[in-house]
Amino acid sequence: MSARRWFVGVVSVAIYVIGSWGTGQAGKESAGSVPLETVVDYIHSVLEADRTFYTVHVVERMQRRGVIGSSEKWRSESALPIPAQFFQESSSLAALTGSNVRYRLISLNPINKQNGSRTEFEQKALEAVTAHPEQPYKGLVKEGDARYFQAVYADHAVSQNCVTCHNADPRSAKHDYKLNDVLGGVLISIRVPE
Ligand code: HEC
Repeated sequence: MSARRWFVGVVSVAIYVIGSWGTGQAGKESAGSVPLETVVDYIHSVLEADRTFYTVHVVERMQRRGVIGSSEKWRSESALPIPAQFFQESSSLAALTGSNVRYRLISLNPINKQNGSRTEFEQKALEAVTAHPEQPYKGLVKEGDARYFQAVYADHAVSQNCVTCHNADPRSAKHDYKLNDVLGGVLISIRVPE
């Protein structure tokens, strides 16, 4: 083998080894070193940003301009989905992708009884984020054989629209909400592999 070919051979092997070591390390770094506690914060920030944008710049804006209102019967009526439905529908679509993440809105004073707390964790979490909205409530929850990492974040009335609609609904147990009050919580649940 000529010195030149030998040199090219060694360099190629070195590039291959360094390359695969590099991607291996990068893969490990991105998958292994971000704790679920942080991952769930990332998911929450994206969900909140989307829903706030939808409420303020779509629902509220269209209503103010007299273009179109929002209604729970948006499928049959000419209306936009209310923000809670936007959230539910997007969670169902996310579930279809096969991801292990689920999310829903819950409350101590729900309009829809189905959105009340279903577990001891959810009840404790709602009480905690109502008392200390700046602090999300997180923990590992077992359901049968499955394990979930769950987090509940305070859900604030970010626009007057949230307040008006929740106060006006006869199904709501509370009718004196004000802007920025905690209306409930955003529950995010990530299934933890066995
Ligand atoms: C047009 C009316 C309307 C607006 C605007 C609205 N909501 Fe709701 N919200 C509802 C209804 C109705 C439900 C129950 C939906 C269901 O059947 O699950 C609900 C559900 C919820 C729930 C789950 C607990 C419950 O009460 O059933 C939370 C938390 C919530 N909304 C927070 C908000 C926040 C925060 C905003 C503003 C960003 C907002 N909502 C805007 C009508 C409204």
